[in-house]
Amino acid sequence: MTFAFKILIIVGFLSACSGYTWLSGAYNGSVYYACVGDSITFPWAVIPSGTERVTDMEWYFRDNDGNSETIATYVDGEFSVPHSSHQRLFFAEDVGLTISNLTQEDFGEYFVRADIRSGSSFETQALYTFLRQPDPPRTDDNLLHARMLPGAVYRSGDWHVQLACGRFSSWGSSSFSVKWKTPSGRLLNSDTSLNSNSILMLTNPIEEGSYSCFIDIHEPAARCAYVPPNMLVSNEVHVDTCSINQVLYTIVKQANKDIISSLQQVFVLGNDTVRLVNGNKPWNGRLEVKYNDTWGTVCDDSFGVSNTPEVHGNAFYGQGTLPILLDEVACSGSETNIFDCRHNVVGQHDCSHSEDVGVDCLPALSV
Ligand SMILES: *[C@@H]1O[C@H](CO)[C@@H](O)[C@H](O)[C@H]1NC(C)=O
Ligand SMILES: *[C@@H]1O[C@H](CO)[C@@H](O)[C@H](O)[C@H]1NC(C)=O
Ligand SMILES: *[C@@H]1O[C@H](CO)[C@@H](O)[C@H](O)[C@H]1NC(C)=O
Ligand SMILES: *[C@@H]1O[C@H](CO)[C@@H](O)[C@H](O)[C@H]1NC(C)=O
Repeated sequence: MTFAFKILIIVGFLSACSGYTWLSGAYNGSVYYACVGDSITFPWAVIPSGTERVTDMEWYFRDNDGNSETIATYVDGEFSVPHSSHQRLFFAEDVGLTISNLTQEDFGEYFVRADIRSGSSFETQALYTFLRQPDPPRTDDNLLHARMLPGAVYRSGDWHVQLACGRFSSWGSSSFSVKWKTPSGRLLNSDTSLNSNSILMLTNPIEEGSYSCFIDIHEPAARCAYVPPNMLVSNEVHVDTCSINQVLYTIVKQANKDIISSLQQVFVLGNDTVRLVNGNKPWNGRLEVKYNDTWGTVCDDSFGVSNTPEVHGNAFYGQGTLPILLDEVACSGSETNIFDCRHNVVGQHDCSHSEDVGVDCLPALSV
């Protein structure tokens, strides 16, 4: 047989066997984390299809010094372990290989080899994986650093101040869950992780006082990793009305900037041309405009401004007493001054003050 012919036959064998799959979750190179005493299952079994048959499986272990040994075999439906030291190994075709009661010596690299036969052709498949103990947690400053974030998030109709713990520069592939202790001693889980920080979103009304965070050593990943004592309790972050308001003020300030820039396009807010009166927030109220040194109101008839937040008619922010200056106002959004919008001749209207228009530039902001 020529060499080229041999290759042809091997290729023919390979393509004849292709219906089988590994159990779901079996990936090459996956890393599993476990503790001494745990049980671990590698989903290492092949599901044959059609006429295929798994004739032979063999599992190997390579320790940290690079020594390999066969730890278990599965030949013609018979699972066996060659050494008495491996009596903690179990295999089930629909589960994979389980090692129970892990010892310190079990951590290292594992391989499996499976021979799948279909008729006269066969194929060999291999997978490898690593079994490790969790790495200790690490943070940038080697401390859990609890602090209040300078911004808040908008969730379920409300603004929420957030606390951050960490930040963890390396979690390995395992994750350590971070818990929070509130001033009244309640224990809360972190809500999310953002840029390696564990985040707690405070619920409103906010409980004032000192918050701290800590690594939950009962959590599986932390249970058997060395967690340095300084990571068991963080510094405390003090939360009070003043610090909360500072955060919320930042949002309002930013929001105001956004509003002003969007409103300036149309209303020239802040240039003594437009003002919001009788609102309960700086960004809402009855719309009043100044023309020829006289302030007056705007009628809601046909009032339309594209790109603008919520518009309220029917004197939502109370009835004005000043002259009604603008009626039938229609802005396209490209105007730089409300008087550039299409409107009736200033002062001409068929309105009463019950039709005074108001705007809420940030309907969602309820601080
Ligand atoms: C687990 O292993 C330890 C030491 O290797 C042994 O003392 C213990 O009895 C074992 N437990 C089980 C359930 O096999
Ligand atoms: C897994 O990796 C090994 C070593 O690189 C390779 O021989 C084997 O074919 C790979 N298995 C799969 C299913 O990709
Ligand atoms: C503000 O008013 C002044 C004086 O009337 C005017 O020169 C200026 O262009 C106005 N600014 C804007 C943004 O319209
Ligand atoms: C502006 O106001 C002055 C005095 O109130 C008035 O004489 C003048 O006619 C007004 N101009 C316009 C364009 O309404």
